[in-house]
Amino acid sequence: MKNTVVTFKEAKEKGEKLTMLTAYDYSTAKLIDAAGINSILVGDSVGNVILGYEDTISVTMEDMIHHCAAVARGNKDCLLVCDMPFMSYQSSVYDAVVNAGRLMKEGRAHAVKLEGGVEYEETIRAIVNASIPVCAHIGLTPQSINAFGGFKVQGRGEKAAQKLLDDARAVERAGAFAVVLECVPAKLAERVSKELSIPTIGIGAGAGCDGQVLVYQDMLGMFTDFKPKFVKHFANVGEQMTAAFKAYDQEVKAGTFPAEEHTYKIDDSIIEKLY
Ligand code: KIV
Repeated sequence: MKNTVVTFKEAKEKGEKLTMLTAYDYSTAKLIDAAGINSILVGDSVGNVILGYEDTISVTMEDMIHHCAAVARGNKDCLLVCDMPFMSYQSSVYDAVVNAGRLMKEGRAHAVKLEGGVEYEETIRAIVNASIPVCAHIGLTPQSINAFGGFKVQGRGEKAAQKLLDDARAVERAGAFAVVLECVPAKLAERVSKELSIPTIGIGAGAGCDGQVLVYQDMLGMFTDFKPKFVKHFANVGEQMTAAFKAYDQEVKAGTFPAEEHTYKIDDSIIEKLY
């Protein structure tokens, strides 16, 4: 079944949970799509898990378009959401609409995601008015890491909790079709999810959200630089990959790979005629 923003709306109304996973390439997109996941996010986490940056600040529009277009070619039924990278929407509302349009036209995204609440109400409204669905992202917003002073749980104190609720209300008012809640206490996320009419997609925000999102390298145990508390390894693919790489190395060096069945045939007479 094709997932659209209407699927998200209906899931919220029916109380059905939504699933979202990141992907950055064609092959992974095909696997996620075949698994029946509702949505693929081409996250700017591409900066961390694919490009090896320590944060998402250096990720460019060209990076996002390149990876989103690859994912789009492998995707059939997932709602394809693409992150707006740092400084592609912060400079002006005009820049935000133009860059959101590029992610749709060149990246073939179905929707864009941007980080921020109350401060980005006008920006979200303008993008939505251009018929581009927007998923908002509040709580821990990694593009603001230098302003936060590190990766920390958000919304813990009274003022911060109220700010998170106000941010959630603002993005809903602006027309966002969903909102990601990252690294916020579970009870606060539950309170926000109960109040909003749009689905909340949690990452480190507990089971009270309307859906969940994870970075696929995290949930497959492929990214070992650090493991946040909210990550569960649903498989240890990283260990399996290392074991496979070692087996390949050993077999090539021992002369057991490639074997007969991996080779192409030619008539001996042709080889014999060579001079
Ligand atoms: O970039 C990303 O992968 C994200 C998720 C963590 C929600 O924004």
